[in-house]
Amino acid sequence: MLSHFPRYPLTYGPTPIEHLSRLTKHLGGAVDIYAKREDCNSGLAFGGNKLRKLEYIVPDAIASNADTLVSIGGVQSNHTRMVAAVAAKLGMKCLLIQESWVPHEDAVYDRVGNIMLSRIMGAETRLVDEGFDIGIRESWKAALEEVRARGGKPYAIPAGASVHRLGGLGYVGFAEEVRAQEAAMGLRFDYVVVCTVTGSTHAGMVVGFAADGRARNIIGIDASCTLTQTRAQVLGIARNTSALVGGKDIAEDDIVLLGDYAYPVYGVPSQATLEAIRLCARLEGMITDPVYEGKSMQGMIDLVRKGFFPPGSKVLYAHLGGAPALNGYSYTFRNG
Ligand SMILES: Cc1ncc(COP(=O)(O)O)c(C=O)c1O
Repeated sequence: MLSHFPRYPLTYGPTPIEHLSRLTKHLGGAVDIYAKREDCNSGLAFGGNKLRKLEYIVPDAIASNADTLVSIGGVQSNHTRMVAAVAAKLGMKCLLIQESWVPHEDAVYDRVGNIMLSRIMGAETRLVDEGFDIGIRESWKAALEEVRARGGKPYAIPAGASVHRLGGLGYVGFAEEVRAQEAAMGLRFDYVVVCTVTGSTHAGMVVGFAADGRARNIIGIDASCTLTQTRAQVLGIARNTSALVGGKDIAEDDIVLLGDYAYPVYGVPSQATLEAIRLCARLEGMITDPVYEGKSMQGMIDLVRKGFFPPGSKVLYAHLGGAPALNGYSYTFRNG
C-alpha cells in the first residue's frame, strides 16, 4: 500500500514482537499477550511511534527546502523530542512550542526527560501557557511566522505528526509489518491494543488492518480525556489516509476507542494507571509511562480481567514509547 510513497529511514527496521509470558500467566493465561516494541525502534533519542510517521514526512520536508522543523506538544511531549532528534539528524534547526498540557506537580517537570533531551539536541524549546488541545494551535502558527520573519524556511509538523497529509502512513506500514511477522511466526493476532491521543497511530493501523478485515480489532485506549474530539480526529485521519493509499472505505464503527482509562485528565495518572505501570515493570521489566502507555496497559489488563477478549485470543500490545517522560514524575514514583 505504501510502495509509491518516499520513505526516509529513521528506524532500525521491523520492531520485535515478544511474548509477555509472565503477564499472560498473571492474568490467568486464557488470553495470550504479546508486545510489539515500537519503543525500541531506533537509536534516535530513545525512539518511539513518531519516527514511523516521520519517515514518510521527512522526504516532503527535504523537498520543500525547509531549514527549520517547527512542531508542538506538551512540556513532556515525546513527539517534540522525536522532531528535535530528526532535525539534528538532518542538519536542520528546530523550534518547538511546549504548551502547558499537564497540571504537573513535579518541581523539575520542565527541566528533565523529553524537554531536556530536546534541549541537548539543540532545539529551541518555547514554553507556552496554553492548556491541552489536540487541534491546530495559534501558538504553533505564530512560531511558523516567527521563523519566516527571521528569514528562515519553516516546515510545519502538527502535534503528534497526526493532522498532516502523510501522518497516517507510518502505521499503515505497521500493519503490513505485523502481517509479515505473523506469517513468519505462524500465528495471527486477534486484537491490537493501542494508546490514542492525536490519532494517526490508531488511524494508520485501522487503514492497514482494514485490508484483512481487522479494523475493528484495533482497540484504541484513549489517553486524551477528550474522547469525542479524539474519535473524530482518528476517523478523519483514517479516511484521508485510506483515500491516499487506495484502501477500503472506513466506517465510523471501524474506530473502536475506549474512554474508560484516561481519567482524571491527560498527563495525570490514576491509581489504577500507576498499578498497571508497576505490574508490567515488575513482571516483564517493560517500562510504560504515566501519560500514554501506562493508560493503555491499564486498559488492556482491565479488558483481560473483564473477559472482553474471548478465551484463546492473541492480543498484541503496541508499545509506542514514552518512557523519558517518567523523569517528570519522580515524586509520584519516589517509593517505586
Ligand atoms: C508514547 C506515546 N504513546 C502513544 C501516543 C499516542 O499516539 P497518537 O498521538 O498518534 O494518537 C503518543 C503520542 O501522542 C506517545 O508519545
